[in-house]
Amino acid sequence: MELIKELKKEHAVLSKKIQALREMFGFSLDRERIKLSLGDFEKFWNSHEEKEENFFNERKDLDFAKMIIEEHLDLRGHWEVIQKYLDKRDVALKVALETDGKMILDKFEKHIKKEEEYFNSLSHSQ
Ligand SMILES: [Fe+2]
Ligand SMILES: [Fe+2]
Repeated sequence: MELIKELKKEHAVLSKKIQALREMFGFSLDRERIKLSLGDFEKFWNSHEEKEENFFNERKDLDFAKMIIEEHLDLRGHWEVIQKYLDKRDVALKVALETDGKMILDKFEKHIKKEEEYFNSLSHSQ
């Protein structure tokens, strides 16, 4: 249960980081700043995901665990696309961040929400 507590705390941190990225995507085309923020998010997400994968890999018999692991792969694919935006011209970068950029942040939020609901159901059933 300690791990679940830790993951939930990290979700709160991730939610704040997602909110900050959302705001930045709406107004900034400063590539250095975007790169730094993406790098910061990615580093935190990587370590969070590793812990979750250990947790969910032990529960692979559950459809929910399989779905979570698949979503991690899906999110990673979208994340790689986002990095490529930084090579685009200003107008294209702006459009990409406002559309695909926000879409991936929505996906992250939905993913976290599903995990939270699952973790809460575990702690309630104890
Ligand atoms: Fe996750
Ligand atoms: Fe998570």
